[in-house]
Amino acid sequence: MFYDLARRFMFSCDAEWSHNFALNNLKRFAHTPLNHLWTQELAPKPVQFLGLEFKNPVGLAAGLDKNAECIDAFSQMGFGFIEVGTVTPKPQLGNDKPRIFRLPESDAIINRMGFNNRGVDYLIENVKAARYKGILGINIGKNKDTPNEQGKDDYIHCMRKVFEHASYITVNISSPNTPGLRDLQYGEALDDLLSSLKNEQLNLSAHHNKHVPMLVKIAPDLDAIQIGQVADSLVKNHIDGVIATNTTLERSAVTGQRYADEMGGLSGRPVREKSTHIVKELKRLTGDKLPIIGVGGIDSAQSAKEKLDAGASLIQVYTGFIYQGPPMIKTIVNAL
Ligand SMILES: Cc1cc2nc3c(=O)[nH]c(=O)nc-3n(C[C@H](O)[C@H](O)[C@H](O)COP(=O)(O)O)c2cc1C
Repeated sequence: MFYDLARRFMFSCDAEWSHNFALNNLKRFAHTPLNHLWTQELAPKPVQFLGLEFKNPVGLAAGLDKNAECIDAFSQMGFGFIEVGTVTPKPQLGNDKPRIFRLPESDAIINRMGFNNRGVDYLIENVKAARYKGILGINIGKNKDTPNEQGKDDYIHCMRKVFEHASYITVNISSPNTPGLRDLQYGEALDDLLSSLKNEQLNLSAHHNKHVPMLVKIAPDLDAIQIGQVADSLVKNHIDGVIATNTTLERSAVTGQRYADEMGGLSGRPVREKSTHIVKELKRLTGDKLPIIGVGGIDSAQSAKEKLDAGASLIQVYTGFIYQGPPMIKTIVNAL
């Protein structure tokens, strides 16, 4: 009921304005009686994954809370885990506005935000200030003005900073909105990046006396050969897990709709099949060697089960959550 009203209002406003409006209010009222508007008590459905205990298998995907400003409010909604970021070493503004578009006919979004965020130091202050004690993923990326050849340094910088504050770390090499970033998913560039990050993870584990799993987030736009190569490289470099997938560049499912030709990544229902296919292929190729978090187009119990049946151990939501709000979390968690 509350989300129906809030959604009607927000969907009548500009998409990015609504996003900021929602986050500002969630942050402001998270620790006031107004939080009962979104708080939900869900039955525990614990899942063990990568040596961590998740309250339930439904997480918030990266990109909604880029600066970790609303961790407590999202936890009040009942998410089993929360991923914040993508964060970069330095603050950056991202691409010019408008850069986020709703495609309601397909319950979809196109975005080309471009890692707008306030930098890793600001994110860490917010993580430290949060009261949340559950599983927190921190998703890291590189600044736009860092050339790909030095991209590794940005990831290592962020990894060092977030290591002691994260339950797990996600290495995002699949955003379509930072020029050249997806090139890091292929061939030698991928092997080089992953071996350096693995090395850093081992050093940090020894230093902090704590293992923090590292996952890599990949795109849905990989062909059969590329999926095979990525899977090989992840296993070879002993990466702890994979998040499949980010947004797609493909537009065939939304042809003719308003905004369909906007540049950026498409998310929501139109990416569902593609990301499920990637999850299935990863599972087929790597068996139990590579634990998977499935994300892309999940908006119901059925689409959540589809990802789990394909081989994911946990799922994340973004676009479905924008369209349906907190009740969707409850529906899915109760059905699993
Ligand atoms: C507006 C927007 C911003 C996003 N920003 C990020 C990001 O910063 N980092 C990231 O790894 N994924 C980002 N994503 C991708 C989502 O985390 C998710 O992988 C993708 O949208 C597919 O899931 P969905 O269909 O449930 O939205 C973003 C998605 C949207 C719609």
